[in-house]
Amino acid sequence: MAQLWGGRFTRETDRNVYLFNASISYDKRLYRQDIEGSIAHAIMLEKQGILTTEEKDAIVKGLTTIRTQLEDGSLTISDEYEDIHSFVEATLTQMIGDAGKKLHTGRSRNDQVALDMKMYVRSEIIEIDELLKTFQEILVRIMEENLETFMPGFTHLQKAQPVTLAHHFGAYFEMLRRDRSRLSDIYERLNTCPLGAGALAGTTYPLDRGYTASMLGFEGPTLNSMDSVSDRDYVIELLSALSTVMMHLSRFSEEVIIWNSNEYGFVEIDDAFSTGSSIMPQKKNPDIAELVRGKTGRVYGHLMAMLTTMKGLPLAYNKDMQEDKEGTFDAIDTVKECLTMFMQMVDTMKFRKEVMAKSAMRGFTNATDAADYLVKHGVPFRDAHGIIGRLVLACIEKDKSIEDMSLEELREISEVFDADIYDAVSLKTCVERRLTTGAPGVSAMRGVIAEYRKYLKE
Ligand code: ARG
Repeated sequence: MAQLWGGRFTRETDRNVYLFNASISYDKRLYRQDIEGSIAHAIMLEKQGILTTEEKDAIVKGLTTIRTQLEDGSLTISDEYEDIHSFVEATLTQMIGDAGKKLHTGRSRNDQVALDMKMYVRSEIIEIDELLKTFQEILVRIMEENLETFMPGFTHLQKAQPVTLAHHFGAYFEMLRRDRSRLSDIYERLNTCPLGAGALAGTTYPLDRGYTASMLGFEGPTLNSMDSVSDRDYVIELLSALSTVMMHLSRFSEEVIIWNSNEYGFVEIDDAFSTGSSIMPQKKNPDIAELVRGKTGRVYGHLMAMLTTMKGLPLAYNKDMQEDKEGTFDAIDTVKECLTMFMQMVDTMKFRKEVMAKSAMRGFTNATDAADYLVKHGVPFRDAHGIIGRLVLACIEKDKSIEDMSLEELREISEVFDADIYDAVSLKTCVERRLTTGAPGVSAMRGVIAEYRKYLKE
């Protein structure tokens, strides 16, 4: 047991209490941020005349060595320490002697852990954003290749109107765009530096908080020391944004699972991203998509856990807040892993274009267009709606699509039909005429894709 306190105690901490209290098994993940924050703190202390240049140099050199050794594996973080902050300080003191004991001047673990966590969240936001962007690049590539891959668009999971694969995937592109924008908002809002807030009430040392803040890439120092050490809003916001990412991936997964089913057969997941059954030799299962859908629950769980952990806490720091780490780390790991797996699966997926087009044709997705045809020939829309409804009924009775009906059969329903009806209800025409911004028509889509390309370059 190695801890930073004990002077006012007459008995050693109970071993199980120590273990219950310790966070090193998971906060060791913050070693880089902890060291970087400590280096900045030491440099600032020297600038303010609180440390000598020799002391500062020894501390910076020692901390840099610790980081290098942790990275090359010659030093490992032992669970004997209470937390990562204790480990770094104790190792530094063993390495450089008494100067190491001065590092914690004007600082508390409360502002230190808040700093570490903010820096960690910042760097993870950047990594997750990169993954989201890579996924968008995959989507836009597929969109460009499938501007005329016709498929049914659904409402209520019932075939509704024809769209294209490009259009359908564009919807996911938009979701990911909002995900990225949410992450960037969170980054901006969290980017003030808590270091120097001390335990809760600042410090009597003449710290230059603006200096450490700018060294560590923050906009500036936080302006209320109590809030600095007790704010975990950014963790909750991150978990919320990550939950939304997972919700999007889960919806996408659900579609891939449906599309990959024998009944739909719209897509074929690559063998490398499918799994078999131990008993049924014919099976090729969409496990990746199912796991992504399943893991969504645990990310939501971490959000709910953190909201609940924070809800009753009086100001300022409370140990409850140590519970922010495991869930956040797990949510981050889960999202990164799911994004990586899922985008590779999508990237290698085969689209069965004929099956999609056939499905669009068989489901009366052109019924609205048939009604619009009548409207163009002078029939009021409400009447046209009724006529096409009767036509659909007749088609169902004959097990035919609208375009399979002969002109005679069509005229039995309405005299208005003419030979040009066939072109009007062809899939190509139905999609191509939808040219409002955001619609699936090819030239409308091309404009949108050009904007996506520009956005991806920014
Ligand atoms: N391991 C602690 C945490 O994650 C560090 C801060 C400890 N501060 C304290 N006063 N016990 O929250």
